[in-house]
Amino acid sequence: MPVVSLGLWHNFGDVDDFKVATDIVVSAFDQGICHFDLANNYGPAPGSAETNFGRILRNELASHRDEMLITSKAGHEMWQGVYGDGSSRKNLMASINQSLKRTGLEYFDIFYSHRYDGVTPVEETMQALIDIVRQGKALYVGISKYPLDLQQRCYDILREAKVPCLVSQYRYSMYDRKVEGGALKCAADNGSGVVAFSPLAQGLLTDRYLNGIPEHSRAARETGFLQKGQVSEERVAASIKLNEIAKKRGQSLAQMALAWILKDERMTSVIIGASSVEQLNNNIKCIDNLDFSAEELSQIEDILKDPVLSF
Ligand SMILES: NC(=O)c1ccc[n+]([C@@H]2O[C@H](COP(=O)([O-])OP(=O)(O)OC[C@H]3O[C@@H](n4cnc5c(N)ncnc54)[C@H](OP(=O)(O)O)[C@@H]3O)[C@@H](O)[C@H]2O)c1
Repeated sequence: MPVVSLGLWHNFGDVDDFKVATDIVVSAFDQGICHFDLANNYGPAPGSAETNFGRILRNELASHRDEMLITSKAGHEMWQGVYGDGSSRKNLMASINQSLKRTGLEYFDIFYSHRYDGVTPVEETMQALIDIVRQGKALYVGISKYPLDLQQRCYDILREAKVPCLVSQYRYSMYDRKVEGGALKCAADNGSGVVAFSPLAQGLLTDRYLNGIPEHSRAARETGFLQKGQVSEERVAASIKLNEIAKKRGQSLAQMALAWILKDERMTSVIIGASSVEQLNNNIKCIDNLDFSAEELSQIEDILKDPVLSF
């Protein structure tokens, strides 16, 4: 996997500008981001990010399929009725067929169980992932957001079936460090890579909100998952302080926030979101400086120690 991956949760739905979406995907690929992260429900409308990505692929990148790692997931609410949500075999099997159809792909490189639904035994969900690989609909499998007490069991079931868990996807940023409490170690102990989603805390760890909530930003959009209330005074104040450290490192705040995650050798990739090519280009440059001095780390820890910053 590239150390920086592109996620299509926001900005690639039918409510978004298709030309901008195309430019972001093509520009990402041209710069070495060969990993694109989807899920059945990304949009809005749910499913439209997969449909739009399939169109972009056919229009612009069709001859490059074998150079790309394309992932999708099932587990959150997608269609009406009891089988349209959750982590049952019924949901995963129906969902991957729908996702393949929407994207026009013959297979996904990685297919994830998007979440533990609190009801379905993990044995059933993992068996569905194993069968999806055996049916040739995905090459590898992953788990996303699994609670620590079930994470090991997932790895054991998958390993025993000789379909090892290639990657585990967790939210990880300076403002959400829950994975440091065990999930990272458990993944590393089991040989699973870890990819961080929302590494910029949906934009809070960039210069986006340093001077208020701009029009068209994720927090301002009706369809965005970042709530205005999450752009709290405390987080903005902390981001301003972090930005000062980033400047001294010759980086943007976004670049430093990504580098800060990638400094941990257990991390495989950060999955960023972007609403413009400019944001993408800015973020990719994080790789120019991934090292931190002990002093920088301690200054960052000092800012992050306030518990009100955590999601
Ligand atoms: N497994 C899961 O359950 C799960 C859950 C969530 C996400 N994910 C994956 O992770 C991916 C990334 O999540 P995310 O979109 O929340 O990631 P993120 O990188 O934390 O946030 C992306 C947003 O931050 C802003 N931004 C990015 N770069 C910027 C820059 N250089 N300067 C200023 N603002 C910048 C943009 O907001 P504006 O739109 O305001 O410009 C952008 O849409 C998703 O697309 C998805 O693939 C997985």
